[in-house]
Amino acid sequence: MKIKVIDNLKGKTESLSQSKVDNVVALIRKNTQDVNQGEYRSDDLERLNDFATPEKIQKELERGYLAMLFNDEKDLIGCALVVRRGIRLIIKTLQVKTVYCRKGYGSLLYKHCESLFEQMGMNEIEVEVPKFPRSEAFYRSHGFVKTGNPTQRDLRFAMFKYI
Ligand SMILES: CC(C)(COP(=O)(O)OP(=O)(O)OC[C@H]1O[C@@H](n2cnc3c(N)ncnc32)[C@H](O)[C@@H]1OP(=O)(O)O)[C@@H](O)C(=O)NCCC(=O)NCCS
Repeated sequence: MKIKVIDNLKGKTESLSQSKVDNVVALIRKNTQDVNQGEYRSDDLERLNDFATPEKIQKELERGYLAMLFNDEKDLIGCALVVRRGIRLIIKTLQVKTVYCRKGYGSLLYKHCESLFEQMGMNEIEVEVPKFPRSEAFYRSHGFVKTGNPTQRDLRFAMFKYI
């Protein structure tokens, strides 16, 4: 396993190749489809993933952070995207391919994000969580709390952790 990081939070230093951004987009879209057990109808799943286009990810990444996890065959099996929202940073998405789940890879990606928030002087981490039970369980396992319940119309909800 290998992690490759692109960190443009303090100014653009590196860009993502077209083939890599296409892989990131494909991973996000396929993975959310694979974990969906009816939490989202297909049109809602499309709305959930509307940030996941090559153009939008490249745009976010101009001032953002992306960690990509590759297996030994160099296939992309996970990623974490941190983006700027005004003066705040949020974990926009964190994904691990389903066949690699429950092996600690999500936590490995998360730890990279947590140290990034610390380095950036933040005292709180916010994540945008989709309505998959595993997503909430994952962030709870890392000490996050939920501040409200999503309504049926909400696509995601926020969870927070003080660091
Ligand atoms: C959520 C996700 C990133 C977790 O990745 P992962 O590699 O399986 O995570 P880890 O193996 O590091 O799990 C850490 C802990 O989270 C919790 N957890 C993870 N998946 C869980 C599940 N399916 N059910 C219950 N708890 C779960 C457990 O406490 C787990 O620790 P344990 O395995 O020792 O019990 C992955 O399931 C995923 O990509 N889901 C779809 C996208 C998503 O919802 N991302 C999150 C927000 S954008």
